[in-house]
Amino acid sequence: MPLADRYGRVATDLRVSLTDRCNLRCSYCMPAEGLDWLPGEDVLTDDEVVRLIRIGVERLGIRDVRFTGGEPLVRRGLVDIVRRTRELDAGLGISLTTNALGLRHTAPALAAAGLDRVNVSLDTIRDDSFNTITRRDRLTDVLAGLEAARDAGLTPVKINAVLLRGINDDQAPELLAWAIDHGYHLRFIEQMPLDAQHDWSRAQMVTAEEILEMLQARFALTPAVEPRGSAPAELFEVDGGPATVGIIASVTRPFCGDCDRVRLTADGQVRNCLFARQESDLRTALRSDATDEEIAQRWVVAMLGKRPGHGIDDPSFLQPDRPMSAIGG
Ligand code: 5AD
Ligand code: SF4
Repeated sequence: MPLADRYGRVATDLRVSLTDRCNLRCSYCMPAEGLDWLPGEDVLTDDEVVRLIRIGVERLGIRDVRFTGGEPLVRRGLVDIVRRTRELDAGLGISLTTNALGLRHTAPALAAAGLDRVNVSLDTIRDDSFNTITRRDRLTDVLAGLEAARDAGLTPVKINAVLLRGINDDQAPELLAWAIDHGYHLRFIEQMPLDAQHDWSRAQMVTAEEILEMLQARFALTPAVEPRGSAPAELFEVDGGPATVGIIASVTRPFCGDCDRVRLTADGQVRNCLFARQESDLRTALRSDATDEEIAQRWVVAMLGKRPGHGIDDPSFLQPDRPMSAIGG
């Protein structure tokens, strides 16, 4: 039973948010004081998470699982959840989107448990900019986490960077030079309207086109031959390769038509899109003795409401009620 929607897309890539909590406070994500976290009893247990992943893999054609947050490394059972996910299927792609705080200590255990690779969120390599953006003085820990990930073989280590006007929008070339130097694969992501504070504005956003222009002032970029497929990053070879840089134009060049993702929140709701305005509750079913088949059926139905695109440019666009930190990337 594939997770198909009404527009011919099939979801095979499952994003699982393990917590809505985070130890940073990135300004494009959360207010300085943090948010009201999900009540503990609403958050799925490790057993419940693994059961849903198993149903996804065994019955619904899921081929890739990505753990997200908030910050997934703050979830106590993470290594165990990764291990149990790996035991489901040796061929499954398993990855983690993280801010890398604490990764210095857990990278070897995660690799041993069967994690394939990590995507680290890092927008700057300058201390002052890092402190401004994340409101925490932790750049050193992030850099150590990145190195630990690379040393543990969680490769390719990808870095996601968001450029913010007036804060780090002049740092794209230095970030790329640094990433290439360290063997990390850098991708720039256009800022999306997913901040809890609703401060996003289209006019303020640093566009993919601007980013390309700024990079081209210092590097020769040529479109990489690799087919784009459903991967949202447009890849460019840097100065003749083999190094590359990715640009994810989520807002200005949406890739919704190729979307193969489905999301599960930490409290057990299926979201068929980052920007979905409705969710489908699987937690209640999980906790009321539903069979695997019944849960799979609910999941299939949840996909039918998936809209053709995010519609950020429509006058009627409304930001989802959940912020990014409670959805996962
Ligand atoms: N727009 C774009 N990317 C964002 N991220 C978090 N909030 C936003 C946003 N509003 C990024 C993080 C992380 C990934 C989950 O998404 O930096 O890399
Ligand atoms: Fe935490 Fe990621 Fe949000 Fe930053 S963007 S506050 S690292 S969840």
